[in-house]
Amino acid sequence: MGKLDGKVAVITGAASGMGRATALRFAKEGASIVLADLNSQGGETAVAECAAAGARAVFQRVDVTSEVDIKSAVDRAVKEYGRLDIMFNNAGIAGAVGPIEKVESTDWDKTIATLLRAVFLGMKYSIPEMRKAGGGSIISTASVAALQGVGYLAAYAAAKAAVVNLTASVAIELGHDHIRVNCICPGGVNTPLIHRGAPGAFEHAEARMAKAQPIPRAGRPDDIANMALFLASDEAEWITGTAMVVDGGMATGNTRFRTRGLPDSGFSGPSFEMGS
Ligand SMILES: NC(=O)c1ccc[n+]([C@@H]2O[C@H](COP(=O)([O-])OP(=O)(O)OC[C@H]3O[C@@H](n4cnc5c(N)ncnc54)[C@H](O)[C@@H]3O)[C@@H](O)[C@H]2O)c1
Repeated sequence: MGKLDGKVAVITGAASGMGRATALRFAKEGASIVLADLNSQGGETAVAECAAAGARAVFQRVDVTSEVDIKSAVDRAVKEYGRLDIMFNNAGIAGAVGPIEKVESTDWDKTIATLLRAVFLGMKYSIPEMRKAGGGSIISTASVAALQGVGYLAAYAAAKAAVVNLTASVAIELGHDHIRVNCICPGGVNTPLIHRGAPGAFEHAEARMAKAQPIPRAGRPDDIANMALFLASDEAEWITGTAMVVDGGMATGNTRFRTRGLPDSGFSGPSFEMGS
């Protein structure tokens, strides 16, 4: 028996990275899935993977910055499979990068539209269908960038921080409807968003990202898919409003700060005694 038997999911950003891994994970657990993405080729490949795992799955070309498109993905789930139980608002881009005074307002707007407005719309259009189904699980992808400042990526970090608060706020509104609202804060996960598919870039990113947190390996899309599965499943039925951090320990703090200026081991006493 699968953990998502009989459940219907919409996943945005399902053509690549974490969304694609989650679609396959959900497929193996018995869900029927609408894979929504801008990338038709990657989306159709991911649908084929889900079908090969025995699931019902369809691709819907969606631009998450379009309200009509997001509604169409929800409508497609109801048309194909008769209901909606799980909405995974996951599509993303890095968006506006660089010093804040050089960020174009149009790039700012596009970043917020993709990373924040799309999450709002995914919630807005999935809620009525989940009410009809007697409840549901809304999951959104935030980031560890939501939990601290990130220089030269301010629009992204601000949008992700807003997703964490939007999640908590909407969870308050929907508890009585048995609709749970949670988000995931991934750390550094080696997906095409990071390595961009250039030759050797995946391996280079693997090595670099292994050093970025206490657990010495880069994050994998399956690390996030496993959390998404848990939040989507009935095992998480008393969990709502949370930001689940899945980051190999990155958000614990600056691991390199630990011993700066201090002895490698032993005891460091009052500073005035140093050098005496
Ligand atoms: N990779 C990381 O280290 C990392 C860390 C924290 C959070 N995230 C977040 O995780 C989520 C998934 O990213 P990923 O790393 O799997 O990247 P990815 O590039 O592999 O996947 C993102 C998917 O979103 C799709 N997409 C982008 N803009 C879209 C739009 N306007 N409409 C529809 N689809 C669109 C892309 O086509 C792609 O298939 C994003 O929200 C990202 O911000 C990533």
